[in-house]
Amino acid sequence: MGLLDGKVCLVTGAGQGLGRSVCLEMAREGAEVVLLERNPDTLAAVAAEIGRQAHPFQLDVTDYDRYGAIVAEVAARLGRIDVLVNNAAINPATRTILNDTLEEWRQTIAINLEAVYMGSKLVAPHMAKQQDGRIIHIASIQGFASSGDCGSYNAAKGGIIAYTKSMAVELGRHNILVNAVAPGFMATPMSVVNGVDEATTPDFLEWYVGRRKIPLGRTGYPEDVSGTVIFLASGYCRYMTGQLLVVDGGLMSTF
Ligand SMILES: NC(=O)c1ccc[n+]([C@@H]2O[C@H](COP(=O)([O-])OP(=O)(O)OC[C@H]3O[C@@H](n4cnc5c(N)ncnc54)[C@H](O)[C@@H]3O)[C@@H](O)[C@H]2O)c1
Repeated sequence: MGLLDGKVCLVTGAGQGLGRSVCLEMAREGAEVVLLERNPDTLAAVAAEIGRQAHPFQLDVTDYDRYGAIVAEVAARLGRIDVLVNNAAINPATRTILNDTLEEWRQTIAINLEAVYMGSKLVAPHMAKQQDGRIIHIASIQGFASSGDCGSYNAAKGGIIAYTKSMAVELGRHNILVNAVAPGFMATPMSVVNGVDEATTPDFLEWYVGRRKIPLGRTGYPEDVSGTVIFLASGYCRYMTGQLLVVDGGLMSTF
């Protein structure tokens, strides 16, 4: 018996990092996993790892016509939509208001915030019809504390945190639970900036590890976060909505 037996779960950004880990974990827990990813190579690789329970679709989450068609096809083919994990995002790190552009701002907000709204808008009617559903947003500690080099990313993640509450209130009457997860540092391709893995720099090792600015003394791995997503998708989470779960090794608990 898995925690998600027979559940139809959609995950955006499924091809690597946290999205991949969530997909593998969901499949292990018995779910039918709908993988949404714009990179066809990583999409195919994760689908092959999962096997029979994988339903891969190449998708740029800002292509709303295609997104809508996929949601309709999934609902018709698999009969329902139980969970949406809004995970896909980009991080234009090293950009500040002094050197970024309006185009870059718009692109980040489009992928990291607007597509979260649109994906949720596309699945919510199916969940409302079922009177059952889970929407899980992947935010970031950058939604409420800034590293100072990616303002559009921070703005999008802060927007997600606020919108989680709004959606929870709007959708509660339909028994749709809406929650968010805020990872801290995670070792994924996103955390490699200009070819350097941020968790291997001398600063990181001295400050976050050596001085225990991260009390658990290490970076996080996707597997450290995906279990929290599984909890939010599972029957163990049934009276909690509008919440943000911070999964950061204790980073935000110290100063
Ligand atoms: N890595 C970290 O340190 C960290 C920290 C906090 C929060 N997060 C959040 O966790 C989530 C996963 O991040 P990650 O580290 O696994 O990132 P990642 O860059 O390793 O993976 C993101 C995936 O999303 C896909 N993607 C990006 N834009 C897309 C689009 N328009 N349409 C479809 N797919 C798209 C990418 O192709 C990639 O497969 C993101 O929401 C990110 O903001 C990451």
